[in-house]
Amino acid sequence: MERFHQLDDMLQTTWNMLFRGATQRRNAFRTPILSSIQQDMPNARMVVLRKTNVATRQLLFYTDIRSPKVKELQANPNSCLVFWHPNKHLQVRAYGTIEIEAQNDFAKSIWDTIAPKNRKDYASLLAPSSSTDTPDNFLAPHWNVDTVTATDTTENYQNFAVLVATIERLDCLHLHREGHQRAEFWWNGKHWDSTWLIP
Ligand SMILES: Cc1cc2nc3c(=O)[nH]c(=O)nc-3n(C[C@H](O)[C@H](O)[C@H](O)COP(=O)(O)O)c2cc1C
Repeated sequence: MERFHQLDDMLQTTWNMLFRGATQRRNAFRTPILSSIQQDMPNARMVVLRKTNVATRQLLFYTDIRSPKVKELQANPNSCLVFWHPNKHLQVRAYGTIEIEAQNDFAKSIWDTIAPKNRKDYASLLAPSSSTDTPDNFLAPHWNVDTVTATDTTENYQNFAVLVATIERLDCLHLHREGHQRAEFWWNGKHWDSTWLIP
């Protein structure tokens, strides 16, 4: 990727890449690291970026509501999401707060778009992170990805949650052989303020 000459170009490229991460299956921005705070320890894991809404500065992820990350984000909604694009040499750190949407019209409207076989991640009989004696993932006996129907997955909806991250600050680092470039962007309530940073 060419070096940036304007802060606005870097901001627009970043949001374009966040948008493409959610829409292109093999895009490197599709699987960022999502961090949270577990009591006073940092915690982090990979997630799939499902939707980017540039106008509202929102990034959407799906999860099982029983997973530890949900409790951590309920206790402290502050998060940093880290993206890395190895071809474009761009790292983005996106800071914001995460709301958990479940058991409401919004969550249901998304659940309805998920193919039954892809609802497996919310179908475990035991909660994620439960300790077990076997490596099985404890799906109900009727759960077979080749034959499962929407009706079979009705009760799995109670485990489904959408994580909605609203981004307040972006730290973007562009690695470039002629000189690395770094900038910070923060939302001032109306638009993005920005500054270059020493990389
Ligand atoms: C490539 C990849 C994508 C993943 N996507 C998700 C996801 O979208 N949602 C999710 O809850 N877990 C996802 N996981 C699993 C999480 O990284 C994590 O192991 C799991 O959610 C348990 O996290 P927790 O114990 O911190 O709640 C993904 C893992 C990998 C390796």
